[in-house]
Amino acid sequence: MDLPGAYSVAILAVLCSAIMRPFAAAQNGGPLAVRIACGSTADSIANETGYVWSKDFGFSGGKGAPTKAVNGIATHLNSLRYFDSLDGPQNCYNISVPSGHYLTRFFFTFGETDNAGQEPVFELSLEGTLVYSLAPGWSSYDDNHYGDSLLHITDGSATVCFHRSSHGNPAIGSIEILQLYVDAYNLGSSANLNVIMRTIKRVTAGAAESGYGSRMHADAWGGDRYWATDRTLFAPGSPTTMLHTNANISNFGNPPNIYPEAIYQTATTTGPLSILSYSISVPSNQNYSIWLHFAEIEPGVIAPGMRVFDVKVNDDYLFHAVDIVKMAGAPFRALILNKTIPVASNTLKLSFIPLVGSVSVNAFEVFQIIPREYATLDDNVWALQAIKQSQDLPTRLGWNGDPCVPPVHPWIGVKCSFESVVGAWFVSSLALDQQGVRGQLGDGWVGLNHLQSLNLSNNILDGVIPSSFGNLTILTSLDLSHNRLNGQIPASLGQLSNLKQLLLNDNLLSGEVPPELGALPIRGAVLNVANNPDLCGVGIRSCTKAYVKLGLMISLVVGLCVLAAGIIFLWRKRKANSRGAQRLPRDAPYAKARTTFVRDVQMARNVLQNHFSRPAPAYTEATPLNPY
Ligand SMILES: *[C@@H]1O[C@H](CO)[C@@H](O)[C@H](O)[C@H]1NC(C)=O
Ligand SMILES: *[C@@H]1O[C@H](CO)[C@@H](O)[C@H](O)[C@H]1NC(C)=O
Ligand SMILES: *[C@@H]1O[C@H](CO)[C@@H](O)[C@H](O)[C@H]1NC(C)=O
Ligand SMILES: *[C@@H]1O[C@H](CO)[C@@H](O)[C@H](O)[C@H]1NC(C)=O
Ligand SMILES: *[C@@H]1O[C@H](CO)[C@@H](O)[C@H](O)[C@H]1NC(C)=O
Ligand SMILES: *[C@@H]1O[C@H](CO)[C@@H](O)[C@H](O)[C@H]1NC(C)=O
Ligand SMILES: *[C@@H]1O[C@H](CO)[C@@H](O)[C@H](O)[C@H]1NC(C)=O
Repeated sequence: MDLPGAYSVAILAVLCSAIMRPFAAAQNGGPLAVRIACGSTADSIANETGYVWSKDFGFSGGKGAPTKAVNGIATHLNSLRYFDSLDGPQNCYNISVPSGHYLTRFFFTFGETDNAGQEPVFELSLEGTLVYSLAPGWSSYDDNHYGDSLLHITDGSATVCFHRSSHGNPAIGSIEILQLYVDAYNLGSSANLNVIMRTIKRVTAGAAESGYGSRMHADAWGGDRYWATDRTLFAPGSPTTMLHTNANISNFGNPPNIYPEAIYQTATTTGPLSILSYSISVPSNQNYSIWLHFAEIEPGVIAPGMRVFDVKVNDDYLFHAVDIVKMAGAPFRALILNKTIPVASNTLKLSFIPLVGSVSVNAFEVFQIIPREYATLDDNVWALQAIKQSQDLPTRLGWNGDPCVPPVHPWIGVKCSFESVVGAWFVSSLALDQQGVRGQLGDGWVGLNHLQSLNLSNNILDGVIPSSFGNLTILTSLDLSHNRLNGQIPASLGQLSNLKQLLLNDNLLSGEVPPELGALPIRGAVLNVANNPDLCGVGIRSCTKAYVKLGLMISLVVGLCVLAAGIIFLWRKRKANSRGAQRLPRDAPYAKARTTFVRDVQMARNVLQNHFSRPAPAYTEATPLNPY
């Protein structure tokens, strides 16, 4: 294919990738390959490989920034994505991929915008399992900028999460998700489904330089594995010899692992009867899977029995009496041996000990076998996701990825327990007090069916307490105090027979505390419903029963009516009287009596006036006296 042709295919691939992301890179029935240029806003094609690098997508937050370091995987990439404290402690990439077996590869980097030029220290998990812990000083070693791991994805998406740990903002330069044959690196039965194989070292012995599968003309189903030369593993002046051949190797590229031919065309050997060993730093007390690659390429060694050696890891035998020509069946024919062993120390020393002739090795791979975490119960995850949405939880909580795993990085406020019968984690406690949680509580909370303790105090929740909270049957502590919850307390809370504390104080609840809750104080549990202005009942001021209230209301109304009728009657009557007094003749009996009374008073006043020389008010007929 001519160059313009290659470019138009590549450009077509980019266009397709824009439409078909994230399955963009699965070409011609080949393996799926998702390559993400983190922080990049445009798709691009790598010069060296022709691979399409997608612009950044699938992330939960963070920001793009330039990086100064050369991305050793695709040198044209010059950006990264980082997650600062406003994004919360946990951020993820969630990339839809079909179920299958994948090699995931990362390029770790940092820069000025993201970390002020200071190396960040953080952790990375795959599918909830902690796989990388970048230790202080990691950036001083080229090797530590790369990481690849093999894992099965069974839930339809690859979840890669970055966890803040000691200092700095997690940052990432590139992410690749490259499909392998489903049975690649098979450890027997279904062991691979339950582990992640983290590559510690993948070495092409005797090669002049390191390189990717693409440069070795490897089959794409090999996941573009990176093979490091073993030159850097030796102290200068070590008595090793590099072997190299241009001859074809047979039996080298078989599925499912399909190794490139090039790794068998070089080898490292030593002088006769001298031991060859590689010391590799590893996490201690872990299991390691070791894959050894041989092909007899030394011209003089053509028959069985001419080169025989043992292989040891630290003090343990890995393989006894390896005879390459005998075991492979011929010279220039590939032989692969694998074994998984526990390593107690933090150095894995791989030694080749000669028995006959000298030793020779073409390539080797060392994987740490990391048992996978169990996931959190689906209904718990859905419930928390729903809560995150409906309660508008702040981004700084960083509620991304799995709520409970890795167990060292649960979501903020979430405490989990492991249910070994079900084989899943569940949320046992949720504390979101003083987190600015807003909105109304919905029925979604019921999904937290293993919740024992819930603290939502000191937030700005409003609306009513859903009666479905009565379904959180194993709750022992429910604190909804200091919010703006209103309406009645649902009687269903009385079903929570395990409650030891029910704190609903300082809200706007109204009506009567359900009598069902009266049992709480009786069995020694704490019930606090204080400071709800319109609430009455158990524990606070007593309520008058409704029918009594109605009765009182009716009597009050009736009383008022009677009173009003009385007043009207008397007022009318008195008005009639005063009019009558003016109209009636003086000799009318009532008028006469009144006149007499007035006169008597006047006489009395005159007497008093005489006594005290004080003018008495002048009473006249026009100023009626109070008849009562
Ligand atoms: C690709 O390679 C050519 C020539 O080697 C170079 O001029 C060009 O800048 C490269 N492009 C990228 C994207 O690296
Ligand atoms: C190696 O095999 C290829 C075909 O796979 C063939 O074209 C080439 O001639 C062979 N080289 C040697 C040295 O036999
Ligand atoms: C190593 O493998 C053994 C046997 O499969 C297993 O019992 C043990 O738990 C593993 N150790 C680690 C640290 O994974
Ligand atoms: C790995 O080794 C086991 C025996 O220890 C063997 O059964 C299996 O076939 C080997 N796997 C491959 C891919 O060679
Ligand atoms: C990843 O995305 C899929 C849908 O694209 C979603 O169903 C799944 O819950 C997400 N996983 C996580 C851990 O966010
Ligand atoms: C809930 O959180 C508040 C702090 O906001 C704390 O004072 C209270 O004791 C907690 N409630 C329970 C039941 O622990
Ligand atoms: C609560 O439980 C009752 C009875 O068990 C059930 O009918 C109802 O659907 C549940 N409510 C929710 C929201 O799950």
